[in-house]
Amino acid sequence: MTIFHTEMRHGDSGFERNHASYQKLREAVEAAQQKAVLGGGEKAAAAHAAREKLMPRDRINALLDPGTPFVEVGQLAGDGMYDGAAPSAGIITGIGSVSGRPCMVMANDATVKGGTYYPITIKKQIRAQAIARENGLPSIYLVDSGGAFLPLQEEIFPDEHHFGKIFRNIAEMSSLGLKQIAAVMGSCTAGGAYIPAMCDETVIVNGNGTIFLGGPQLVQAATGEIVDAQTLGGADVHTRLSGVADHFAQNDLHALEIVREIVGRPGPGTISPPPITPRGPLYEAEDLYGLIPDNPKQPIPAREILARLMDGSELNMYRERYGSTLICGTGAIGGYPVGVLINDGVLFSESAQKAANFIELCSQSDIPLVFLHNISGFMVGAEYEQGGIAKDGAKMVNAVSTSRVPKFSVIVGGSYGAGAFAMCGRAFGPRMMAMWPNARTSVMGGEQAATVLALVREEQLARKGQSFSGEDVEVFKKPIRDHYAAHSTALHSASRLWCDAVIDPVDTRQWLTLGLSLAHGSSKEQTRFGVFRM
Ligand code: COA
Repeated sequence: MTIFHTEMRHGDSGFERNHASYQKLREAVEAAQQKAVLGGGEKAAAAHAAREKLMPRDRINALLDPGTPFVEVGQLAGDGMYDGAAPSAGIITGIGSVSGRPCMVMANDATVKGGTYYPITIKKQIRAQAIARENGLPSIYLVDSGGAFLPLQEEIFPDEHHFGKIFRNIAEMSSLGLKQIAAVMGSCTAGGAYIPAMCDETVIVNGNGTIFLGGPQLVQAATGEIVDAQTLGGADVHTRLSGVADHFAQNDLHALEIVREIVGRPGPGTISPPPITPRGPLYEAEDLYGLIPDNPKQPIPAREILARLMDGSELNMYRERYGSTLICGTGAIGGYPVGVLINDGVLFSESAQKAANFIELCSQSDIPLVFLHNISGFMVGAEYEQGGIAKDGAKMVNAVSTSRVPKFSVIVGGSYGAGAFAMCGRAFGPRMMAMWPNARTSVMGGEQAATVLALVREEQLARKGQSFSGEDVEVFKKPIRDHYAAHSTALHSASRLWCDAVIDPVDTRQWLTLGLSLAHGSSKEQTRFGVFRM
């Protein structure tokens, strides 16, 4: 067992400079988070409250077990998109404890354009459902939504991962025995009506809750019938006449109490305690602020991260002396066994082969994998191509893709190109994925992309007998570099849901422990690897 001891010295000028610079990154994330939780703003909130409706975050607080945390998924989704019209994508999603059971809670925010679904809203709800499904969590839908955001219908309605997928997920999760519960606390129109209609059990709030395929305006336009919203689809109609809902609630709090009763009925799904006694690391996580270089070109010390992440700062190192640009080993986080892979340099053939073997071993022993990305990519150059680095990288990507143990990814530095794939990037199905505020991801670095494109341009112009040099090259490269710089940040990634959260480095253990505890209680899957190119 290796115990990681720190080489850090408080008071070093580098440490202090890094620390100060990291606070600015944290402040930028906090500012975005504060904006997200405000929802549609004061005016919309006042109109909402005037209808005697609780704000969506207050609904969630009243639903959860008192004093327990709510871990948000995709809080920053929609940040800076649609001219800022969809803070938090107009829906709040996250994991919290209800009647002692971890649940996925999805609450429309009607203060954001009537709770209508933008493309990013759909993506966020589908992501929340995927987390619920993989971890065997009941889903609770607190519905208050005008359905599709009509001006963008072609980006939310017709395709595979559009609106219909939400309803299909409800049916499929119900068929897997995962409870699907809706509380209709406001509007629930058109396609949106299928959320409560398809759930296992549905509560509707008298006065504010409505469920209908076509609202009063549409009915009048279609048939000439003039009818008010409550007569068309209010709580009395649906619990007494139509049977679309099961429980009549007097108000929001009553509805949430009924949901808690439904979740609390006997059945599986409580969190099981960690199998090993949890131990804290030997060093303070706060040190990480001063250890992450303010210059992204400088390496992030992988061992210092492990010293502040692992239980007891310990790792049972796998092939420590081989392929050493990737550290692999088994240990525990919060008392849950894990296999950890963290970059400590570029990926070579040896490191990729070692990783593939390590993933095989963890899969055989049902040990979840934690990937800590800080990777510029695989080594390039004739020597490495001739040595078959593409096939060795493919072995690692293959193992990552097909291993069925729960996987988690945290981008602690950069995550670029095929290195991002091999380290279990978004496309490779990590159960949860986070980025630190300093993290970046893109197909390659901005400077490299600008240089590649400049060389391509130079060759094109040379074929026409024209030259391309000096200032022209710089004028060509700058916008590419700037674009990459702006679009590879953690905030940008979170707004597009390329990750589930931007987490502060000091919260990494807690965040991973939650994911590992949920995975520990969910059913195990058998791994069947494909063909590895030798
Ligand atoms: N698509 C796009 N924008 C919509 C919308 C929709 N389906 N429904 C509402 N909005 C917008 C409104 O234009 C308004 O925008 P603004 O703030 O820029 O003026 C905002 O959302 C709030 O709507 P408003 O009607 O003022 O709020 P409300 O709380 O009184 O009512 C609804 C909210 C959702 C109940 C009501 O707007 C409604 O019934 N909308 C139509 C729903 C519908 O038929 N959807 C069909 C989807 S397939």
